[in-house]
Amino acid sequence: MTTHRIDVRLPGREYPVLIGHGVVEDIAQFLPKSARKAVIITQSGIPANLALPIESKTVIIGQGESTKSLATIESLSQEFADMGITRNDVIIGVGGGMVTDIAGFAASTWHRGTPVVHVATSLLAMVDAAIGGKTGVNLPQGKNLVGAFWQPSAVFCDLDSLATLPERELRCGLGEVAKYHFLTGDDLLAMRLDERVARCVGIKGSFVEQDERESGKRAFLNYGHTLAHAMEIVGGHQLAHGEAVAIGLVFAAHLAHAMNRISSERVDYHELVVAKTYGLASRVPPGMSVESLLNAMSRDKKALSGLTFVLDSEHGPQVVSNVSSDMVRKALASFMSLA
Ligand code: GLY
Repeated sequence: MTTHRIDVRLPGREYPVLIGHGVVEDIAQFLPKSARKAVIITQSGIPANLALPIESKTVIIGQGESTKSLATIESLSQEFADMGITRNDVIIGVGGGMVTDIAGFAASTWHRGTPVVHVATSLLAMVDAAIGGKTGVNLPQGKNLVGAFWQPSAVFCDLDSLATLPERELRCGLGEVAKYHFLTGDDLLAMRLDERVARCVGIKGSFVEQDERESGKRAFLNYGHTLAHAMEIVGGHQLAHGEAVAIGLVFAAHLAHAMNRISSERVDYHELVVAKTYGLASRVPPGMSVESLLNAMSRDKKALSGLTFVLDSEHGPQVVSNVSSDMVRKALASFMSLA
């Protein structure tokens, strides 16, 4: 059994990400020494039988994007209060990206910051959501609009949990893996699963180490995300996040080409990698209009200075702000007319 350990090193603190089959069996060694109690936050259907040496209670949260709300944070906080959780204790999120985002945010606000450990059970959580300390919940107006940066104390990527992961959830994880493919040029699908997850964690960790609060390089991790978030909102979450990212990556290439940043061959390469290599859908689903998507993109929290995209160039991806809405409208209409 190969176990990988990647340490995410930030100024004054670091935490391990353990990757491999059965790694979560070692969780007791990675709990904060001060913890006397643990709250496990998970969803029904996710095996969350952790071997914990301390008192613990499991709280089940709902399924679906509507659970990612301030109401859930309030009800979790009331559970913490009833259990007498202090900031010496630990909150453990066991699940996919939604669970780790919620558990992380609840931990960040409980007593102004309580340690959190993530046990990522989906590919998307392992390669992206559970790493790097972005936590948060949605508002009706947009995704992840309320949140905090709160780094975990440890993250477990137990590959055993992928064996029973539904096909669609695996595809979602692949959307984020494809993003790393374009950011680094790595042939990630050629790697063994444990190596692939470890490499993705390493890539994500290095961006986070360089720019924890996303004032620069970390924003590259938003490649494909501007259109993705808009499609998630406009479509009422009929597209899962990773599926939307895959389409967003291909649109970003078309937009970059329309702005004379990349060649048509590079656009073809995006089409090929997303649709053929990763086997992911690469077109906006029917029922979404250009104007509704434009509107949603302009409300995105990445839009600090006008419409903002990560766009490829001959020097690699760059963050481009103030992209004209006419340019985006035209590129999107043309993209949406493609077969
Ligand atoms: N998912 C993008 C980031 O963590 O920065």
